[in-house]
Amino acid sequence: MSSKQFNAKSTAMEVIEGHNLTGYEIIVTGASSGIGVETARALAKAGARVVLAARDMNKLKQVADDLKKTTGNNKIEIEKLELDSLESVNEFVKRYLAKNRPLNILINNAGVMGCPLSHTKDGFELQFGTNHIGHFALTLGLIPALKRAAESNSRKSRVINLTSLGHTLSDVDLKDPNFKNRAYDPWISYGQSKTANILFSVALTNLYSCQGIFSNAVHPGGIVTDLQRHMSHEEKLRLGVIDKDGNYKPGFKTIEQGASTSVWAAVAVELEGKGGMYLENCGYSKLQGSNFEAFQSQSGHLSYAIDEKRALELWNLSLELIKIKYNSNLFFD
Ligand SMILES: NC(=O)c1ccc[n+]([C@@H]2O[C@H](COP(=O)([O-])OP(=O)(O)OC[C@H]3O[C@@H](n4cnc5c(N)ncnc54)[C@H](OP(=O)(O)O)[C@@H]3O)[C@@H](O)[C@H]2O)c1
Repeated sequence: MSSKQFNAKSTAMEVIEGHNLTGYEIIVTGASSGIGVETARALAKAGARVVLAARDMNKLKQVADDLKKTTGNNKIEIEKLELDSLESVNEFVKRYLAKNRPLNILINNAGVMGCPLSHTKDGFELQFGTNHIGHFALTLGLIPALKRAAESNSRKSRVINLTSLGHTLSDVDLKDPNFKNRAYDPWISYGQSKTANILFSVALTNLYSCQGIFSNAVHPGGIVTDLQRHMSHEEKLRLGVIDKDGNYKPGFKTIEQGASTSVWAAVAVELEGKGGMYLENCGYSKLQGSNFEAFQSQSGHLSYAIDEKRALELWNLSLELIKIKYNSNLFFD
């Protein structure tokens, strides 16, 4: 597989060109809309078996039919996964492990953004619970399959966590991640959950790279998708997303461009055996000194998001939270 230079405008299909993923087993969460669909399309085009996981089976079936048609790959499967329910995550993991398949690449892409205060079935604040805790539990459950893939393939297994420039809005409050003792703010909550996605990549790599599992976090760029469903017109204006005529401001990527860094993180030869990084525009990101600098340049990451000590603290907290909330041994084999 050759390695080429890509940039912010590259599309997922451009990035996958020349890669052959025949025999690879891949899961993409949140593959019922937006970036997840185009990520899965590119990976399917390269011949992988791709499991599309999301909560709406009707949407998933339509996406699967479309992907089969456009890629000529019939190894597209759909599986129900509700990341706001640890029971559903557990059921998904059990079904996957029962197939005795390895798992080469897991793309934790699903997400919610800026929603009003609400909670997952297990009582976690919705953005922290869905974007981080759901994916944390899913990944832990799938570790046996990720390990098996690393043992049986010359390449390491990869876990890709979708994050956002929005991580610069907030670090994780390790004492109160669920906003029990502080006022809820939908953007602080989104920022916290997206920082958690990066810290998760850091800790996962530190703890599991010795077993062949590496994880990076990907900021896809700004893309108009269903993710903005909770933003009112006024909020989009206030945050500078649209102009006064309601048009999205320049700088947004197409969905095909938005999926390119996830695909790059999944297949790039230069990333083999590398983890704990924040990737954007099909490349490495720059460490910024403040969230002001990051927002000015619309790029880069903050140091708290890659802090190894805090990454381990979040890991331990997340373990405690899923142990307390879900009495199962599955995640702790
Ligand atoms: N778009 C952007 O500008 C942007 C920028 C930075 C980062 N990101 C990140 O990119 C990722 C993909 O976002 P997108 O823009 O493609 O958004 P999207 O079109 O809204 O897709 C999100 C996906 O996640 C699924 N999902 C949401 N809650 C779920 C749950 N509880 N259980 C299972 N699946 C769930 C959605 O399913 P439903 O269709 O059923 O809702 C959908 O398939 C997210 O992690 C987001 O934070 C996006």
